[in-house]
Amino acid sequence: MMSLTFMQFLFAFSLMLLVHAQDQSGFISIDCGRAENFSYTDLNTGIEYISDARFIDTGESKLIWPNQRNNYTQPYWTLRRFPEGTRNCYKINVTSGMKYLIRAGFFYGNYDGDNKLPVFELHLGANLWDTVRFKDASTDKKKELIHTPLRNYIHVCLVDIGSGIPFISAIELRPLPNET
Ligand SMILES: *[C@@H]1O[C@H](CO)[C@@H](O)[C@H](O)[C@H]1NC(C)=O
Ligand SMILES: *[C@@H]1O[C@H](CO)[C@@H](O)[C@H](O)[C@H]1NC(C)=O
Ligand SMILES: *[C@@H]1O[C@H](CO)[C@@H](O)[C@H](O)[C@H]1NC(C)=O
Repeated sequence: MMSLTFMQFLFAFSLMLLVHAQDQSGFISIDCGRAENFSYTDLNTGIEYISDARFIDTGESKLIWPNQRNNYTQPYWTLRRFPEGTRNCYKINVTSGMKYLIRAGFFYGNYDGDNKLPVFELHLGANLWDTVRFKDASTDKKKELIHTPLRNYIHVCLVDIGSGIPFISAIELRPLPNET
């Protein structure tokens, strides 16, 4: 099991490669809750983000309050939440057999005005990836893992455990060189 710090290093490293080569091939950067067909380049990273609409049919889009946006980059300004159903999944096409760094990002930002931090599960396919908990409303949470899909798609699922409405702000996939 690799440490989170190492994964963060890998993530930063793949970003460095990007900046160096200006090559985003294989990158998948999804801004959850954005309007369908919407895409933009994040000015902080130079990475292109696309709407999540084509990867999921369920849930609803929500916007973070403007005063909560200051400390976070654009991908965290919107989210998709899942008030219905225990398990809601994104289906994302990938290249089977390729090693990916997969990152899921969450920023509550008191978007619903309830100021009540939800706790929920994140699954990769049928397997529990992690439980998502927040320190406070204005601190984000990121979950990362390295995975080599056996099929040409993956499922990233949000699972309701009865402790608030699950949501997600961003999903990012970065292909890794096979020797890492
Ligand atoms: C998104 O693009 C598709 C294909 O071009 C189009 O059929 C659809 O109407 C668009 N949706 C919106 C909300 O503009
Ligand atoms: C957010 O940014 C402001 C300045 O824009 C700063 O004063 C504040 O401490 C930051 N809050 C957090 C939680 O980082
Ligand atoms: C994913 O791949 C399938 C099969 O190749 C294709 O039908 C589908 O449109 C793709 N989905 C997206 C979101 O690109």
